[in-house]
Amino acid sequence: MDYNIELTSSMQIGMLRQKLGSSGIIRLKDVARHIDNLKDLQLQEDVWCYDRYPKQSSSAKVMIKSHHNNKEHECVLWSVNHYLGLNRHPKVIKAAQDAIAVYGTGSGTSAMSGGFCELHKKIEEKVAQLFHKEAGIIFPTGYTANVGAISSLCAGRNSLILIDREVHASILDGCKFSGAKYLPFKHNSVDDLRSKINKYKELYDQIFVIIESVYSMSGDIAPLREIADLKQSNNFFLYVDEAHSFGIYGKNGGGLCLEMGITDSVDMLMTTLSKAAASVGGVVAGNKELCSLIQVSANAYIFQCCVTPSSAATVIEALDIIEKEPIHRETLHDNNRYFREKLLKLNFDLGESISPIVPIYIRSQTIMQNMEKELYERGIFSVSVTYPGVKFNEVRFRFIVSAAHTRQHIDYTCEVLSELGKKYGLIE
Ligand SMILES: Cc1ncc(COP(=O)(O)O)c(C=O)c1O
Repeated sequence: MDYNIELTSSMQIGMLRQKLGSSGIIRLKDVARHIDNLKDLQLQEDVWCYDRYPKQSSSAKVMIKSHHNNKEHECVLWSVNHYLGLNRHPKVIKAAQDAIAVYGTGSGTSAMSGGFCELHKKIEEKVAQLFHKEAGIIFPTGYTANVGAISSLCAGRNSLILIDREVHASILDGCKFSGAKYLPFKHNSVDDLRSKINKYKELYDQIFVIIESVYSMSGDIAPLREIADLKQSNNFFLYVDEAHSFGIYGKNGGGLCLEMGITDSVDMLMTTLSKAAASVGGVVAGNKELCSLIQVSANAYIFQCCVTPSSAATVIEALDIIEKEPIHRETLHDNNRYFREKLLKLNFDLGESISPIVPIYIRSQTIMQNMEKELYERGIFSVSVTYPGVKFNEVRFRFIVSAAHTRQHIDYTCEVLSELGKKYGLIE
């Protein structure tokens, strides 16, 4: 295989992954060997980011361990979605500890076979209530909530699913599993969505539109009101993933659709419980009939073990805190404003983002790889979004703001970004 000299090893790995997907298993061993060699090369160059992890899990400042050389290095952590920092809240930790004493450790089996307990029921009811929906169904993760719900709702060859081009992989996999035809529309383009609905509406029994309220890779928000308005004159089913807005926007954290007053136009809302809610799990919420359908048809619900009781207990406590202690949300929004203002003043390119997901567009994979290493050496840990996940000229860093970050963390990060941005010619 010939590669342009400019291709970094991480790009080559991405391309090989894609190639494997398209060429099937015939070249499996060759491709695996090539990927492993490239990974070793990245380890030697100290740029294999998957080798590094927060030794004691997520917090605003953490010890990052590099596994291959056993080195440890203190960093400000910008890569996790604990938006409100509730994973370290004493009441949330105590809720998990208390739950283990009462409910034991694991759930043992799927919801349908006895793995479900009163804590899971409470979450389903609570999330449905926050979303202003009739009922909810809990899944073991946000990923499987999308796969399970979408594959059962949209099943069948007479359905067409229209998805925003930037939706999360779990939505895409749900579409694939459904057996329905699916097509992307241009990111956040209501015009493109409208024209696709007009083009296909006579050809299919049912059209589904699936979007996210906040997009995870670019931090921008969907034109929710316009898409809800489109429903007035077009008959389609609207499914909105609120993974990055639940707990953050809307009354008591009920999400962006609630904040924008369009909940009634949305047929199904989804959230993960791993981000603002600081635990694990996913919930889809809608009317009672839709939830019953999902409950009896989603393999991810029927054949997958439930969230552990202690994780469920942390969700319940976190949701209670979100309601009763608005300070965490206020701090998050303050931090987001403060960080953005500083970066914009430095002239960094933040695209269209406005949420606590702050992308910094680098637009060169080589610069990004070098910068990522230097950021790490200077005590800043963030993730890069690379090709082929995004186009060559759209590669970016993703800084995820949390209420746990202090002004000191933000100031220091901006100071280093300013220095490196100048060094690599991104800013003047
Ligand atoms: C938009 C979106 N939906 C779903 C998921 C899956 O959630 P989880 O990681 O909790 O399984 C994610 C995770 O990053 C996400 O960003």
